[in-house]
Amino acid sequence: MSRPHPTGATAPTASQRRSLATIGEVFSRIAEGAVTLHLPDGRSRRFGPLDAELDAELTVHDWEFFPRLLHGASVGLGESYVDGQWSCPDLVTLLRVLIANRDVLRPVSVGAFAQVIGDRALHAVRGNRRGQATRNIAAHYDLSNALYERFLDETMTYSSAVFPSPEATLAEAQREKYRRLASRARIGADDHVLEIGCGWGGFAEYAAGELGCRVTGVTLSTEQADYARDRMRRRGLDDRVEIVVIDYRDVAGSYDRIVSIEMLEAVGHRYLPTFFAAVDRLLADDGLAALQVITIPEQRYTNYRLRPDFIQRHVFPGGHLPSLEAMTRAMRRGSQLVVEDVENIAPHYAETLRRWRGRFLANADEVRALGFDDAFVRLWEFYLAYCEAAFRARWVNDLQLTLTRPGNPTLGRGPYAGD
Ligand SMILES: C[S@@+](CC[C@H](N)C(=O)[O-])C[C@H]1O[C@@H](n2cnc3c(N)ncnc32)[C@H](O)[C@@H]1O
Repeated sequence: MSRPHPTGATAPTASQRRSLATIGEVFSRIAEGAVTLHLPDGRSRRFGPLDAELDAELTVHDWEFFPRLLHGASVGLGESYVDGQWSCPDLVTLLRVLIANRDVLRPVSVGAFAQVIGDRALHAVRGNRRGQATRNIAAHYDLSNALYERFLDETMTYSSAVFPSPEATLAEAQREKYRRLASRARIGADDHVLEIGCGWGGFAEYAAGELGCRVTGVTLSTEQADYARDRMRRRGLDDRVEIVVIDYRDVAGSYDRIVSIEMLEAVGHRYLPTFFAAVDRLLADDGLAALQVITIPEQRYTNYRLRPDFIQRHVFPGGHLPSLEAMTRAMRRGSQLVVEDVENIAPHYAETLRRWRGRFLANADEVRALGFDDAFVRLWEFYLAYCEAAFRARWVNDLQLTLTRPGNPTLGRGPYAGD
């Protein structure tokens, strides 16, 4: 509890003061970018070089922010934002400064250790075995189709777009992303495509509608499946597109092409070989697979695995970003698949997230009218800004990959004599 302060503001308790002192020491190590901290009693302090390009401000409304940040790292930062204990004019810039200085900002406290242990235990309980995977997906994707309509574009795509030009609309950029993935997998009209993690049916509609192929789309979300089936009926594509609610591990059959767009983040470290074994089992001998996957740099992968972050705790239960090396290791263990090519589209994700957040905040009143409270709106604002900052900093990447097996004739001959 805070005591009344002579100036009218409340004064910090002894433990809040100790946390503030530690945070002050830790922030004084900021070397890239700058943060000006405005305290609840009106005092301000700036950390970081004077000529910093990234210059952020953070206004603290409640002294309790300091122990929460000290003990909770990204989880404490996000939770205290949701509770309105601090505000800031530009969340993305602030988060970019914190990310840029992450190595020096990691304070060590008994509370922080306890928080990590708690978060890790919860993350383990929510691991993506069958059944729990369904619960994890329902917690995010079954929130409400109307909610997703408030910030996604009309293609209802919930993954990074690829902007052909800065002026392109989000829907145009989503179709460009679909075009590129279809071209990676060399999808033709005669193909039967399996899409693992089909969302609300954006890619299935594109592939069946524009390329004329058959698509079987699988999802664990019943809300998404209802929406996607209705969408295919309305577009007259229901003879070519089948939407099935099924776990990727239980899919049967053989498919000419497999596409999976930002679904691998819901698989988990433990099940990565299982995922690639499923792709290997379901892909025809001369088949190709195209994936889009959010990844974490290899150098940070172990640490990331040991410290669940705000997103895993509050947004995507069971969520897990693989590294490229973790994926190729899993491919070796679980399949005959190899990487044919790979491209990082991270800057496009930052722009996609910027546009999603803009739409989400512009429609915040409609989101509230759907029954979501202020805390939810702040949580999603923080989530979208946190992800945008992470992609801008290339702290995380978004890879498009083509997978094949050695000797696949579909890839054709190279341009050199003797190939
Ligand atoms: C981030 S969404 C992407 C949706 C879509 N690909 C898009 O780009 O809009 C992830 C999708 O993966 C699906 N998914 C996650 N885990 C799954 C599992 N174990 N089996 C099948 N689908 C799964 C979710 O239901 C959701 O449709």
